[in-house]
Amino acid sequence: MKTPLLSVRNLTIDYIGDNRDFRAVDDVSFDVAPGEVFGLAGESGCGKSTIAFAVSRLHKPPALIRRQSKILLNGRDVLDLAPRELAAFRWREVAMVFQSAMNSLNPVLRIEDQFHDVLTTHTAMTKAKARERAAEMLRLVDISPDRLRDYPHQFSGGMRQRIVIAICLALDPKLVIMDEPTTALDVVVQREILQRINDLRRTFGFSVLFITHDLGLMVQFCDRIGIMLAGRLVEVNAAEAIFRTPSHDYTKKLWSSFPSLHGGALL
Ligand SMILES: Nc1ncnc2c1ncn2[C@@H]1O[C@H](COP(=O)(O)OP(=O)(O)O)[C@@H](O)[C@H]1O
Ligand SMILES: [Mg+2]
Repeated sequence: MKTPLLSVRNLTIDYIGDNRDFRAVDDVSFDVAPGEVFGLAGESGCGKSTIAFAVSRLHKPPALIRRQSKILLNGRDVLDLAPRELAAFRWREVAMVFQSAMNSLNPVLRIEDQFHDVLTTHTAMTKAKARERAAEMLRLVDISPDRLRDYPHQFSGGMRQRIVIAICLALDPKLVIMDEPTTALDVVVQREILQRINDLRRTFGFSVLFITHDLGLMVQFCDRIGIMLAGRLVEVNAAEAIFRTPSHDYTKKLWSSFPSLHGGALL
């Protein structure tokens, strides 16, 4: 592999309890190459979101990242970042899109102002430049820049999700973490959005850490996939190989519990 963009090493995360601690992530290591889409799959509760939050430094107590853990982004340990470095890190290096992201827009602010807040807080961009950038980003997600002065409620759920993605990409992050980013949307809209993200990835060259419980979507969208079971990463392989020749029993079981996978690449 090329020098990885993201290297996760021995990541171990406990949720600290009153009586005993719960190990949610157990000695997980993986790499994500520049421009790669890396998927994390596994059933609910296996630790996927806990990893996503740690990589974006959004984890909070009771989550405790154990000392042996390393999360290197471009060689720098994300876990060593000082609090004052975090805001810039989160927008400019790593951006995170959540399942409920479409509800993360501020309902009382015009789309233009939400772009403006992000762009002028984290860069020295002027208001005019920020507006230009916002228009450019909206166009990239197939929304007319005429709509910059509209409010979130004037858009459909799928459009709101695309707007959130456009805002996330406006600062050109190197890694985009998507935790069930389209689960709340219908299947057609879901695929349109993933298609769009894939086009944008080819244009901008960012990497994606993609989390979903939808294995069909995962195989179509990811270059490589890591399969998680109860906090452990039990198998990592090319998406195609994970599907055709799963090596771990659990991966085989995951597939057999998955009703139908229509062939043919979506992306
Ligand atoms: N704030 C919390 N306090 C205690 N346990 C938690 C907390 N958040 C998650 N967990 C536990 O950690 C495990 C992993 O959760 P999570 O990372 O959300 O899984 P996934 O995203 O794969 O569904 C689960 O067993 C969950 O119950
Ligand atoms: Mg989750």
